[in-house]
Amino acid sequence: MNEMTPLPCATSARSGKQARGLHVITWGCQMNVYDSERMTDVLRPLGYEAVDAPDRADMIILNTCHIRDRAAEKVFSELGRLRLVKEARAQAGQQTVLAVAGCVAQAEGREILARAPYVDIVLGPQTYHRLPEMVARAARAAGAVIETDFPVEQKFDFLPPEREVPEGGAAFLTIQEGCDKFCSFCVVPYTRGAEASRPVAAVLEEARRLVAHGVREITLLGQNVNAYHGEGPDGATWDLARLATELADRVGVERIRYTTSHPRDMGDGLIAAHRDLPALMPFLHLPVQSGSDRILAAMNRGHTAQEYRDLVVRLRAARPDLALSSDFIVGHPGETDEDFEQTMQLIRDVGFAQAYSFKYSPRPGTPASNAGAQVPEDVKDARLQRLQALLREQQDAFNAASVGQRVRVLFTGRGRKPGQISGKSPYLQAVHVEGPDSLIGQVAEVDIVKLYTNSLGGVLTGETERA
Ligand code: 5AD
Ligand code: SF4
Repeated sequence: MNEMTPLPCATSARSGKQARGLHVITWGCQMNVYDSERMTDVLRPLGYEAVDAPDRADMIILNTCHIRDRAAEKVFSELGRLRLVKEARAQAGQQTVLAVAGCVAQAEGREILARAPYVDIVLGPQTYHRLPEMVARAARAAGAVIETDFPVEQKFDFLPPEREVPEGGAAFLTIQEGCDKFCSFCVVPYTRGAEASRPVAAVLEEARRLVAHGVREITLLGQNVNAYHGEGPDGATWDLARLATELADRVGVERIRYTTSHPRDMGDGLIAAHRDLPALMPFLHLPVQSGSDRILAAMNRGHTAQEYRDLVVRLRAARPDLALSSDFIVGHPGETDEDFEQTMQLIRDVGFAQAYSFKYSPRPGTPASNAGAQVPEDVKDARLQRLQALLREQQDAFNAASVGQRVRVLFTGRGRKPGQISGKSPYLQAVHVEGPDSLIGQVAEVDIVKLYTNSLGGVLTGETERA
């Protein structure tokens, strides 16, 4: 997968008193958000502190995403803007190191340096631990640095153990990276490399530290997170079910989520974990992409539509309150009206609480990009509109059904209005209530009383789980 939920993401920004400012611009999935945080961590010992404006930054990192169309164009236009910042700072006698990271850097490193020679560093997702060395070299040398090879060592092993703990009680933790599945449309196996799992001990240590700092909810991340097979301290290989059990039972993580999963790796053990572990949240992102067997085969997904339906039945039998989210692509090469109708039918049959849907866009170097029978743009548009209308209907119905329910909400921050705090339900619905700031980072019981377009309003019941 990068079946990571694509989320356009703002800069992580805090102003610092340190001598050097770091401004990270993050595009793409949660994996990129995590990577941006880790890059900030590895640069902290060099004296870099996050700043919220590029013109105050001695180093700017553009962390890019390649998953869909026009990624390179978007990067070049952003770089054009950053070039002006760099030039203005140079006139004031300040040096700025400009780095491009992430999947576009991986795929188009040389092109970036050719078209944007003012870029100092281009680094792929496997080399972030080398960032301090690259920064030192870039600051010294006039020439730009390219670092997009896949090193033999795992970058996980080189990241510093300390990481800043986010406020609000929820954190991401990468446990697996890369993908060996080679779906026809996807760049991830080429940009993120082969599937690799982080050793169990390292994951547990990071999780323990997060919990000790008050983190209540951990989302385990990986492009193919349920293919996790980390080396355990006992020498055995641990799967995700075993890891989640350990995190819930021994580390004391109250809420566990994982994303993104592939239906092929949804084993019996993991399904049983949904039955046995209350800490495993009853909300699962399980991309299916299409409901047509012909297209699923062309996509190299490795399962049929019926197998997906059966899997959902087994999951719901294990955890009756489970809700699903998914990713869909319309207009994959060869997709006919009939194929598309089968996708619509699968959506009606399964019912999704939430979903992301995309028009197919060819990624250079992937098998689908030079397949015949590309679907015309206007057909893709029309299909996407119908698909999104159906998914929106299901999402609205799911949210409407929450009104009148009592749910446990993890409060992650202040709301928009004074006196309001916001958090998320077990189903990642945004919930707003009138409540004290002291509840931020805590789980409290809420009666849902109101439905807004993209969120819910509630009232505290007075019942709070203390950390
Ligand atoms: N075109 C359209 N959507 C894509 N995705 C991945 N690659 C492409 C592509 N070439 C979507 C898939 C994946 C999600 C993260 O992005 O649905 O699950
Ligand atoms: Fe996900 Fe398939 Fe891409 Fe792997 S190749 S990241 S399974 S979409």
